Amino acid sequence: PTAKPVIVAIDGPSGTGKSSTSKAVAAQLGLSYLDTGAQYRAITWWMVSNGIDLDDPTAIAAVAGKPEIISGTDPAGPTITVDGVDVAGPIRTQEVTSHVSAVSAVPEVRSRITDLQRSLAGAAERGIVVEGRDIGTTVLPDADLKIFLTASPEARAARRSGELEGADVNATREALIKRDAADSSRKTSPLAKADDAVEVDTTQLTLAQVIECVVTLVEEKRAGK
Ligand code: DC
Repeated sequence: PTAKPVIVAIDGPSGTGKSSTSKAVAAQLGLSYLDTGAQYRAITWWMVSNGIDLDDPTAIAAVAGKPEIISGTDPAGPTITVDGVDVAGPIRTQEVTSHVSAVSAVPEVRSRITDLQRSLAGAAERGIVVEGRDIGTTVLPDADLKIFLTASPEARAARRSGELEGADVNATREALIKRDAADSSRKTSPLAKADDAVEVDTTQLTLAQVIECVVTLVEEKRAGK
């Protein structure tokens, strides 16, 4: 019999190894992969490019439905386009990063992006690993497995500044703490651990260990343990 699709939600703040872990777990298990942060970054990139006033939530809400955002869910080469333009590079700039919390706090933006996420998850034949901030709590509350990744602020800043060119660890740490605080305190589906999520503290773990831990949890779920 064909196995029932497995839905895995991986949430947590930035710098916990969420993306690397989620991509590797999906690849290893033959599942699709969705980076929901990339979707929020993509809509933010579009707002910045179109000169939308990002201090004005009403202005953001008014155009939230405009850009067409398409995510490719192959973990070996995830893609993201806005109105047909490949934005994989531009969504990682400092400018987009500094505005993404404000844009993603707007309810109209969240409901738009949440709809996209649910339809991609529903379409994944073998299942999907979805990473974000509110996947286990809001987007896919019936996920088969929910993981909440954490790590100390120091470990997270060190990992993030390693990824960004020319980044200063202290500045990265401050920016990251600020963004997490904004993401955790917003009214509409904040960053939060679902009650039934398994918390994994990655501070002392290598990436390989985190991947192995999550793969084991998925396999146990599938075996009905
Ligand atoms: O994972 P990331 O750093 O690429 O995410 C970018 C931002 O998007 C993050 O600051 C908060 C927002 N986000 C969100 O609000 N909900 C999600 N499910 C994923 C990301």
